[in-house]
Amino acid sequence: MTTGGMPSGSQGCLVGFSKPTVFTGASAMFLLVYLALWKYHDSTNPLLASASSLPGDESRPLPGAHSPRDFLEQIMSCDLDEPKKKNVFLEKNKSMPMIYFVTPTYARSVQMAELTRLGQTLSSVQALHWILVEDSTKCNPVVGQLLRRLGIPFTHLASEMPAAYKKLKIPPRGVSNRRAALKWIRRNVKQGVLYFGDDDNTYDVRLFDEIRDTRNISMFPVGLIGDYAVSAPVVHDGKVVGFYDSWPAGRRFAVDMAGFAVNIKLLHQFPNATFIYEAGFEEDSFLQEIVTDADFIEAKAANCTEILVWHTRTVQVPAAILQPPTQTLTETSISGLLRRLNDLQLATISSKGKPSSVHYLTNV
Ligand code: UGA
Ligand code: MN
Repeated sequence: MTTGGMPSGSQGCLVGFSKPTVFTGASAMFLLVYLALWKYHDSTNPLLASASSLPGDESRPLPGAHSPRDFLEQIMSCDLDEPKKKNVFLEKNKSMPMIYFVTPTYARSVQMAELTRLGQTLSSVQALHWILVEDSTKCNPVVGQLLRRLGIPFTHLASEMPAAYKKLKIPPRGVSNRRAALKWIRRNVKQGVLYFGDDDNTYDVRLFDEIRDTRNISMFPVGLIGDYAVSAPVVHDGKVVGFYDSWPAGRRFAVDMAGFAVNIKLLHQFPNATFIYEAGFEEDSFLQEIVTDADFIEAKAANCTEILVWHTRTVQVPAAILQPPTQTLTETSISGLLRRLNDLQLATISSKGKPSSVHYLTNV
């Protein structure tokens, strides 16, 4: 048994097609059937069907070479049909600044566990809009279902890491996604506070009270970073005068992505500020563009002595490849369970996979 895979899973089918000599009648038949199924899949999935380029988005990958700064990502917007929940809260609570929480995410076996945990943390925060950006050409419907279940205001986008960077030994993770979110915010949001929260970190809900009144840029410690177990601004007389971080690496602002928040007015004041595609230097590149005066930095979390965010990392578990049990499957939950494992990226089901079996309690 094979269950229907993720939408992008079977695109490789078109690859061997460049050799006309092997293009037989049988393969033409196969191609036609494949194309028909592909079209059917897309048009029946409401999320994929509603996906389109951002309104007014002219972004396309530039042909040929580009600098790590000037690449133009393609962005998919996957929630255009969503009812506009996002302004309900604002209308009721005009005085409370909205927090725009930007999360880059990518497909892997632990993804749905990470997003479930993070989403449930965010559900308990008032006036928060979650911008979730998948590192992909299209949005995963299972991720979209989670977002809708949570019931919080959200924006669901997709923007894939450019192919050239995927090949690097240390690729710049989450950059195209965060750049896409910056574009979306600049187009759609005038005021509020921006925070970059990766999907695997741990957030103390007190963090949101701290960053909500960010006037320009606020900074605070992040636990579990590098050899010092922390990356933290150093405060003297209420001002940030340096950084306690075991990897200075020539950076002016030696901070982690989770260690700062920005007032959205700065994004409009500096319309070109963005992240560069260079692992380890993303934060510094962005901050150097928007922090013109170090005196503007607001120290949070008890003058940068408290830890309200942790750079936790989840062990990566490869997805299992499973053969369905050979025992009678009809009328048991097994086929439904295996389909769900496939949807959640926990396992792929294949006749070539690892044999599996059920230990029955009773005869069925
Ligand atoms: C650290 C920082 O905390 C990141 O903010 C920074 O982007 C990264 O280093 C870097 O400099 O490359 P780290 O924990 O090492 O992050 O990296 P991950 O947690 O694996 O990735 C950061 C974020 O990007 C996550 O939210 C992850 O889901 C996302 N990501 C990762 C992608 O969107 N695509 C990928 O291929 C990998
Ligand atoms: Mn991480």
